[in-house]
Amino acid sequence: MQEGQIVHQFEVNDGSITFRYPRWSDLDAFIKMHQTLAEEKVMARRLKLNRDTGGRMLAEALIGLQENRASYLLVEQASDLVGEGFLTRGGHGYFTVGLALLERARGLGIGTQLMNTLEREACRLGAKRLYLTVWSANLVAIHVYQKVGYQECGRRPDWIQMDSGEACDLIEMVKNPIDANLSIS
Ligand SMILES: CC(C)(COP(=O)(O)OP(=O)(O)OC[C@H]1O[C@@H](n2cnc3c(N)ncnc32)[C@H](O)[C@@H]1OP(=O)(O)O)[C@@H](O)C(=O)NCCC(=O)NCCS
Repeated sequence: MQEGQIVHQFEVNDGSITFRYPRWSDLDAFIKMHQTLAEEKVMARRLKLNRDTGGRMLAEALIGLQENRASYLLVEQASDLVGEGFLTRGGHGYFTVGLALLERARGLGIGTQLMNTLEREACRLGAKRLYLTVWSANLVAIHVYQKVGYQECGRRPDWIQMDSGEACDLIEMVKNPIDANLSIS
């Protein structure tokens, strides 16, 4: 793998979308993208990164890629970073999947393609199973995960306190086995 290498590219309504590995020069845009995700209150991890913490995170992503123990994909639209997806190795042949897109990039099919691309990355890394968690209130994410073949395998009731103050469940999902022949659309 090479820093910045393009992994997948496709067209959506208003232009080209690129999934690529990060490079060190992404640092400022990477921090800004996470700031925006936090401001948008995504139902996913919200990181308030500065150059120190963001730099460590990006360095860890690059090292994980180099050592073939993790994957990290940035989503680029018109030279802007609009999202990311990642895989981290767990125990016993499984990888944990995470992804998030900025609001303006959602609902265009990018999340579905990112899930499929992450799965191909997982195959490359030798994963046997994929695992993720999702808030029960995150209906779009659950729909996408089910669509690409994930199934609920556990649920922690009332585990998450949402911004509204209400609680929702934390759902665990797995995909097993991985389809190594996913088509690239
Ligand atoms: C979850 C996320 C990655 C999905 O990516 P996306 O690009 O928006 O998803 P897609 O456009 O590929 O697909 C959206 C699907 O949800 C469906 N959908 C839209 N509104 C929905 C709703 N209220 N309930 C259920 N499904 C819904 C769409 O019809 C579409 O399904 P289809 O392709 O079968 O028609 C993205 O919305 C996101 O980043 N959200 C914020 C961060 C986040 O929640 N990350 C996941 C944490 S676990």
